[in-house]
Amino acid sequence: MTTNLTGRILVWDLPTRLFHWGLALSFGGAFLTAESERYRDIHVTLGYAVIGLILFRLLWGFIGSRYARFSSFLLRPSSVKSYLASLFSAKPEHHVGHNPAGSYAVLALIGLAAGTSITGYLTYNDLLGDELHEVIANGMLVVVGVHIAAVFVSSFLHRENLVRSMVTGFKQGRLEDGVRGSRWALGTALVAAMVGAVTTLAQASPPKDSVQSAEGGQKHQGEGRAGSHRDKDDD
Ligand code: HEM
Repeated sequence: MTTNLTGRILVWDLPTRLFHWGLALSFGGAFLTAESERYRDIHVTLGYAVIGLILFRLLWGFIGSRYARFSSFLLRPSSVKSYLASLFSAKPEHHVGHNPAGSYAVLALIGLAAGTSITGYLTYNDLLGDELHEVIANGMLVVVGVHIAAVFVSSFLHRENLVRSMVTGFKQGRLEDGVRGSRWALGTALVAAMVGAVTTLAQASPPKDSVQSAEGGQKHQGEGRAGSHRDKDDD
């Protein structure tokens, strides 16, 4: 049975919001520390945090609450077309969770975040040159820019503060559309466990030449492949 009662409804569960702002901060921090050898450890740790966050989000896409689940994403090309067309009409389509264009943007952001951090790991361990890592990271920056612009445009068109909803989790809507039973305690524990496990495990097995330099009591001078991520010493 459907009713038309409206009010404040939960849309983004706490784990999804922790993931979102954790990803934004980790990616932003990793980007700002990318060029300097002095901040290399911070850059690498933030990259590992991104891997932990992505692993969490992939799991949460199956066991999370209603709008966090991938099954709620609207991926039919016809839905994207009609959504985008409606933006130019007097009454733009409104969606409680991710709109069709947003659903694709979210998958792109998750894929690019995974690509950036995995190629970063391979570069750091001298298994790959740093070109691919930089190309994917720059691609991610472009998609993030489009994402932020789209959030503000959509907030304006729908007279809805989407930034606040990603902070508080709440929007105005039909009561029956709100999330019930968000499993926030399980999700929060999973975010912490996955980020903690990946950063701890990765740091427990540092790249070979940084172990050698620590044993030899020398400062790391980048003994790896020329042009690799660890070789830049541009302080
Ligand atoms: C000031 C910066 C940002 C703001 C205001 C913002 C805001 C938002 C909002 C409002 C949503 C929900 C969109 C919807 O209603 O469908 C969202 C989703 C998302 N944003 Fe951002 N965002 C920001 C930065 C970022 C950055 C830097 C990243 C990636 C590095 C990012 C990745 C994502 C992802 C992956 C989602 C989907 C959340 C999920 O379903 O798990 N955002 N963002």
